[in-house]
Amino acid sequence: AQDRMSKSVVTSSPLKIFGNAKKSIRDIFGGIASYVEESKACVQEINDERICSASERVKIGEYTDKVAGIREVLSRDHMKVVFFGRTSNGKSTVINTMLRSKILPSGIGHTTHCFVQVEGSDTTEGYMLLEGSAEKRPVSSLKDLANALSSVKLEENSLIRICWPKNMCSLLKDDVVLLDSPGIDVTPDLDGWIDKFCLDADVFVLVANAESTLMQTEKNFFLKVSEMLSKPTVFILNNRWDASASEPDMMEMVRSQHMERNMEFLCNELKVVNKKEAEGRIFFVSAKEALHNRLTEKGAVTTPLGSVLEGYQSRLFEFAQFERTFEECISRSAVKTKFAQHAHKGKLMACELRELMEALLDRSQSLREEVTKVYSSSTNQLAQLERQLAEISTDIENTIRMVADDVQLKVSRALSD
Ligand code: GTP
Ligand code: MG
Repeated sequence: AQDRMSKSVVTSSPLKIFGNAKKSIRDIFGGIASYVEESKACVQEINDERICSASERVKIGEYTDKVAGIREVLSRDHMKVVFFGRTSNGKSTVINTMLRSKILPSGIGHTTHCFVQVEGSDTTEGYMLLEGSAEKRPVSSLKDLANALSSVKLEENSLIRICWPKNMCSLLKDDVVLLDSPGIDVTPDLDGWIDKFCLDADVFVLVANAESTLMQTEKNFFLKVSEMLSKPTVFILNNRWDASASEPDMMEMVRSQHMERNMEFLCNELKVVNKKEAEGRIFFVSAKEALHNRLTEKGAVTTPLGSVLEGYQSRLFEFAQFERTFEECISRSAVKTKFAQHAHKGKLMACELRELMEALLDRSQSLREEVTKVYSSSTNQLAQLERQLAEISTDIENTIRMVADDVQLKVSRALSD
């Protein structure tokens, strides 16, 4: 029964909206590509400047590259979510929880030193790629390269790509790419970060610390993001909410204080959502508990988390709820941002090509009419000539007959004399 349930969960995942849209648009571009090839073959056969000029031939040929270019981009299109927040708020732990595996290094203090992107791969083993190099490195070396505590340090704005087997995680299978970042508070180059990593992001997750409150550095970063992207989709995860269990009397009050400040930020400062929508973007979770719970279920860890704190189940439930809402948001927003432009270009190309081919058809039809006209006027002339010839031959026959009669008459007269 559990198997059936997990299957139905997988098939009903909102992420399929993106997958299905991607499949449809790829099929449509496949159709456009064969239309272009047919048109090209047809033009090659015509071989008549009066119907198709050299420049039109070149133009039709160029569509092949244009369509191939878009098909190539389409095959690489994915949904991208980026995680930001202050050092140690739990960004890497949140990503590991969503991936249901301890892939990214996490720990106390300043851990993640550069950008780390996790994406799906069709291989059976995971591997790692450093920026500007095609060498596949073992994922085990990530800790040494991405960790701020290690001796070899990459630049903060450099990117490590982890290609993780798709069949080990449903998010990756459905084309979601997750980007982890160093703490927002440890770098002055926020503009550079936005330029390099955020312009193609579909969703932003601000991992906040529920033990303190939203900080100005966190707010400033997102204010900058929203200057460059119109209405970014932003989620706020108030992480480390397990801390509230130690102060149960204050829990509700603290929650509403966070809620109020988060809403104020999303609605009035960032101005990306209204109040009702904002409620669906703010969650209170414990990534540490959720990760441990998932790893235990998988049998990946056997050590207990310690005593189960009050509110444990509801925090797990809220994490799952965040994921569900996140999946809906990211697939919808990615379909809009990633495919709307391609769809528009595809429509334009198909229209242009149709107009061109219709013009060729018109020209070939009028050429045919002209030929028919010439043909019919020459047949008229021929008929007239034939008539004239017939008349002439009758005249000749008559003349011959008259001459013959005359000769006969003269001969018989001479004989009778
Ligand atoms: P940097 O990479 O340094 O910017 O930190 P980060 O935001 O990636 O945080 P990370 O995931 O490394 O977590 C920092 C520490 O907090 C780790 O020891 C985690 O185990 C712990 N942690 C993460 N989430 C939670 C949580 O929900 N509750 C508690 N109690 N601890 C957590
Ligand atoms: Mg980290």
